[in-house]
Amino acid sequence: MAKGLKKGLTQYGDQDFSRYLRYSFARSMGYSGTMLSRPVVGIAYPPSGFNNCHRHFPELLDAVKRGVISAGGLPLEFPTISLGESFINPTSMMFRNLMSMDVEEMIRAQPMDSVVLMGGCDKTLPAQLMGAVSAGIPAIQLVAGPMMTGSHQGEQLGACTDCRRFWAQYRAGEKSKTEIDLIEGRLATTAGTCPVMGTASTMACISETLGFTLPGTAAIPAVHADRLRASEATGEQAVKLANAGLTPEQLLTHESIENAIRVLLAIGGSTNAVIHLTAIAGRVGKEVSLKTLNRLSDSTPLLVNLKPSGAHYMEHFFTSGGLGAVLRELKPLLHLNCLDISGQSLEERLKKEDSYVNHQVIRPLNDPIEPQGGLVALFGSLAPQGAILKRSAADSSLFERKGRAIVFNSLEDLSNRIDDSKLDVKQDDFLILQNAGPRSGTGMPESGYLPIPAKLSNAGVKDMVRISDARMSGTAFGTIILHVTPEASVGGPLGLVRTGDIIELSVSERRLDLNVSENELKIRRDEFKQNPEMKENNAKRGYAWLYQNHVMQADEGCDFDFLKAK
Ligand code: FES
Repeated sequence: MAKGLKKGLTQYGDQDFSRYLRYSFARSMGYSGTMLSRPVVGIAYPPSGFNNCHRHFPELLDAVKRGVISAGGLPLEFPTISLGESFINPTSMMFRNLMSMDVEEMIRAQPMDSVVLMGGCDKTLPAQLMGAVSAGIPAIQLVAGPMMTGSHQGEQLGACTDCRRFWAQYRAGEKSKTEIDLIEGRLATTAGTCPVMGTASTMACISETLGFTLPGTAAIPAVHADRLRASEATGEQAVKLANAGLTPEQLLTHESIENAIRVLLAIGGSTNAVIHLTAIAGRVGKEVSLKTLNRLSDSTPLLVNLKPSGAHYMEHFFTSGGLGAVLRELKPLLHLNCLDISGQSLEERLKKEDSYVNHQVIRPLNDPIEPQGGLVALFGSLAPQGAILKRSAADSSLFERKGRAIVFNSLEDLSNRIDDSKLDVKQDDFLILQNAGPRSGTGMPESGYLPIPAKLSNAGVKDMVRISDARMSGTAFGTIILHVTPEASVGGPLGLVRTGDIIELSVSERRLDLNVSENELKIRRDEFKQNPEMKENNAKRGYAWLYQNHVMQADEGCDFDFLKAK
């Protein structure tokens, strides 16, 4: 089989001519014949002026290339789509699948023997893994690493858990406009991803657990010299992979996926990671069911004391032992035969590692923060295919109760009425947001963190039960039930809820039920089918059309139906 630049020649109808032309153009970049005969390491490279989290990528790229060249390879970076979380409208989630297609097709179309995936901001890591897994050549991921925290009046700050906390205080009139403006400049102050256990850091930990990053690299801060050393080592390893590499399919086994779920639960990771892991596994025909999540959650304790579930930040996680310490604590629960990208088993890795752990931040297995995992799936008549609650970041006093539904039927409706002083809402009510799921035309934004209505937040209410088919940021907190499936826009029961209905929540029984008779629901369902508004939301062309017609529900990872492995 052809290797290096001889792979996948451009079609001109004459193979020798194609090879001659390719090398001729490659030489125009100033490479010697020796360099052009080396194994080629592609580097999927998504820096962008619209992505603050990747602002140090030029420096990391230099280090990756240094590693590739010193190990005898030829590094060739190629740009891909970048997704900077807060710069994308309507939401980066809508473009995760597009990025995955870009990564997959460019890996497949260009001549490379292995690929380094440089990613960081929330959706970039899953998009790259989805694409690389489908492309099938050896792939190693290098994550951006978390940013360092900032400080405001002696208090440590980290985006974006503290962004939300301060914004809630500003909405409640506890912070002035002058102070919130000051805080705005102090929340995110270095390169790197959000410094809490949000989606980016969760996915970095998952990538390392699945074996796609070098051991010990998930939590290294973006600006730390170790991050550059990890970049160089990643480049070196990519050359080894180019010569005789593990393929993504060999890493993505039933056992490694279970390990990744255990880690997600133990670190109090992001709800988004459930969707992403499902999509990644789906690319090799493996399933991540919410029932499996609950089974593992029952026997996986929450160990990591990081925001938004706990008190600390990623820089503390790193100095407290990082993911390696979590894996050592979880060892009795893990499948130790799983391989990582360096070819060693998890058992071999853990034997070699430093045994230091700071138990203030990473608790021992026999003395956890909570005996169960940070996430739980709920099922019932309101969510027949499931919903997710991040119980580690929620108020457990709200877990067993009935509530009156206060319904907002769209994001616009929510923003128009939530702060209306005439809104009939009490602290014990359940706020419901409809039509913010994958097929709603909004791309399933992180709007599940519904604000507390102004009249209640002004009165000191900090949390309420909030239910939607949307997602929430991995940095958010509160008693927030998300990913209700099927979503409202495709006729799920969530779309049939009306203000005043009674909803019953029982986290202990994993239940979420709508207490409305089947007869009444049938009437509402018939009305829903005749609702002409649904048609108006439909995208007419382009990527939005593709998305709306092919995205699957949250329980299938919101991947496109035609990208999942058959
Ligand atoms: Fe990029 Fe949070 S904004 S990780």
